[in-house]
Amino acid sequence: MKRIFSGVQPTNKLHIGNYLGAIRNWVKLQDDPTFADAEKIFCVVDLHAITLPQDPVALRQNVRDIAAAYVACGIDPAKASIFPQSAVAAHSELSWILGCITPMGWLNRMTQFKEKAGKHREEAGLGLYSYPVLMAADILLYKTSHVPVGEDQKQHLELARDLAGAFNRRYGVDYFPLPEPIIMGEGARIMNLRDGTQKMSKSAESDMTRINLTDDADTIALKIRKAKTDPDPLPETIEALEKRPEADNLVTIFALLDDTSRKDVLSRYSGKMFSEFKPALAELAVEKLSPISARMRELQEHPDALNRILIEGTEKVRALAEKDMEEIRHIVGFTKMA
Ligand code: TYM
Repeated sequence: MKRIFSGVQPTNKLHIGNYLGAIRNWVKLQDDPTFADAEKIFCVVDLHAITLPQDPVALRQNVRDIAAAYVACGIDPAKASIFPQSAVAAHSELSWILGCITPMGWLNRMTQFKEKAGKHREEAGLGLYSYPVLMAADILLYKTSHVPVGEDQKQHLELARDLAGAFNRRYGVDYFPLPEPIIMGEGARIMNLRDGTQKMSKSAESDMTRINLTDDADTIALKIRKAKTDPDPLPETIEALEKRPEADNLVTIFALLDDTSRKDVLSRYSGKMFSEFKPALAELAVEKLSPISARMRELQEHPDALNRILIEGTEKVRALAEKDMEEIRHIVGFTKMA
């Protein structure tokens, strides 16, 4: 039985990296006939969000905005469940169980903790450290087979696979399948518009480093115009492009938005200057993103419709989670009461 699970943290607005690296691929899988019978679960991971301080009012709003973005990007609530992670308590429960079989050494290797905690390791919260265990719980709880994510989540996915194996060995069962990451090609890592060596991120301080799904046409055009580039015209070959991270990033974004390849974009634009390429990219980005932001606004103006989607999604996954949790509790040796 195939099951697809993925999620986004409701920590800020969604950017084009989240869309091109993750959500767009969720939609492709949703509509792929080979996954027609698969359960599809898309979560807004608010438990993960509070590993760093969040304003409670903003967090609640962000959960709704991200859920609206899922639908606006093409997730169909008739085919997939959308829900807030905190509404299904089993995520936290399984996270504890998995935490008890996670060697500290495995967590010490996680690069995201090192990046986020930075020099303040001693003050960093336990939740930030054990973040990947909760993520493994999200995935394993539903016996997920496929996890579509961007490249930055690869290490966390490896941990989820290791924990599935560790659980099965510890309890002598063949319970959790090993989840497969699905990291799709060229959009797996969209870079920061001001620094092509850093990934585009919700948490980067400057908003000029990313294109948000809700940016208006002028803002998108401004951000692309101001994006860092070099003075040379676009090259002819992918090898030459890959030596220029900022140019490569803009060509990649163009190719993905246009549903084509970088090679194809170069065949149209090699020899052209950024003064010509950037306005074309801005026009394409506006064309592709404005229907998404319009649909998001529509959903935000109809809170009842969005509520219904979240309630139905939550009810569906709660039932799946509770069924699996019963089995997991039994395997672990917990006492069933009533
Ligand atoms: P988050 O919220 O940081 O990102 C959501 C998704 O967007 C992808 N992504 C990118 N892809 C390409 N280029 C980028 N610059 C870029 N930035 C982000 C991420 O890879 C991700 O797929 N830990 C996860 C959330 C999570 C999760 C899960 C995901 C919690 N539990 C279970 C899958 C399964 C996170 O922080 O994603």
